Amino acid sequence: MFTKDIYTNRRNQLRADVKSGLILLPGNKDASYNYPKNTYRFRQDSNFLYFFGLNKPDFVGVLDVDSGEDWLFADDFDMSAIVWMGDMPKVSELADSVGVKNSAPTSELQKMIEKAIVSGQQIHFCDPYRSVTRDQISRLLGLQYSSVKDSVSKELIRAIVKQREIKADYEIVEIEKACDVAYLMHTEAMKMAKNVGIYEYQIAGRVEGIALEHHGTVSFPVICSINGQTLHNRYHGNQITEGRMLILDAGAELDNGYSSDITRTMPVGGKFNERQKAIYETVLDANMKSIEMCKPGIKYRDVHFVACLAIAEGLKKLGLMKGDMHKAVEEGAHTLFFPHGLGHMLGLDVHDMENLGEDFVGYDDETTRAKEFGTAYLRFGKKLKEGFVLTVEPGCYFIPQLIEQWQNENKHAEYINYDEVMKYLDFGGVRIEDGILITKDGCRVLGKPVPKTVADIEALMA
Ligand code: GLY
Ligand code: MN
Repeated sequence: MFTKDIYTNRRNQLRADVKSGLILLPGNKDASYNYPKNTYRFRQDSNFLYFFGLNKPDFVGVLDVDSGEDWLFADDFDMSAIVWMGDMPKVSELADSVGVKNSAPTSELQKMIEKAIVSGQQIHFCDPYRSVTRDQISRLLGLQYSSVKDSVSKELIRAIVKQREIKADYEIVEIEKACDVAYLMHTEAMKMAKNVGIYEYQIAGRVEGIALEHHGTVSFPVICSINGQTLHNRYHGNQITEGRMLILDAGAELDNGYSSDITRTMPVGGKFNERQKAIYETVLDANMKSIEMCKPGIKYRDVHFVACLAIAEGLKKLGLMKGDMHKAVEEGAHTLFFPHGLGHMLGLDVHDMENLGEDFVGYDDETTRAKEFGTAYLRFGKKLKEGFVLTVEPGCYFIPQLIEQWQNENKHAEYINYDEVMKYLDFGGVRIEDGILITKDGCRVLGKPVPKTVADIEALMA
């Protein structure tokens, strides 16, 4: 938790930006997985965490823009809760710890909302990503469950994005701590991937354990797979075998909620073969060119296309693509190999603020989202500003089903050497991802550098 001034200032700024009405910021509740009392690890809602700092279930925050009052609604623990869960400070004490003067039991929240409705106050809320929260808002406001989505406040969403997208120095410190834990996760995986014949789950388990050991957790389910061509592969049951590469896409989330997200691809056994090295260095070139280019004022969509071009040029050198690579990229031929976006914001969420709507975070009036296959997955395209934290994660994949489909359709045959591509159907995929901070006149990679060149990875694995 940060000091109470930080939360007070954030709420004051939000009230100033939203101008009038009541802002409803529900925290999360515990969520069950196989029976009611067996719950997932609690994860607070990131907006609630950002403005109220309390990492506990069943709290609701309200900012009354018109009166200037902030409220926290929650119930003090009764004896049964104390017996099973331990003691919790009084809600009024917790409120005070984050600079909130007013608190009340949950039952009072309905009365406040009803009063606001009667007096014609606008009630601002974001679209909830959990059905229980949508249900809670539906009941509180007397809206049909299905119409909650249509009543979200774009004004509130834009005001939140405006604040959360610029990371303060004290937030960068936390993100870097999460990156440093990810450094340990990745270097440990590299050491383990030397052992041909072990199973992906052995590495994935160790990686997740490192996050837990540092009083955190993983920031999303670990991707640890020799089948890196499946972008979000969550299966960990394969034995790692010679000739394959292992993708590890994993980050830590510390107990204050800040995340890291790093990807490395390593050769099983510790030595890249010629084919692996060539594809790997193509992706590395895309990663480094992109990072070199990032600075305030540059559109991230333009950086994405520089990465696409680097991958296409690399594949042309290997005989997998042909013709004019500028035109190939313009027409989307590279998306056979790089079908996702270059990156996303990183912060309290690993895809920061994605619950507010990707387009509110990654796009604006000046930069609108493409509809074409591949480029449509670019979550973030707008101009960079100092203080943005985002990922740079180009990749190159050989997805047999996609290749087969495109070949049958003779798609972009002017630019793709299908005969050559067919020789890579057993290759898998490569992705290289770093987290960067946009600085005054450039950017810097966050956290302790995780080995990234072929030589550095081989040296660490040796
Ligand atoms: N690291 C997973 C993702 O960015 O989607
Ligand atoms: Mn990522």
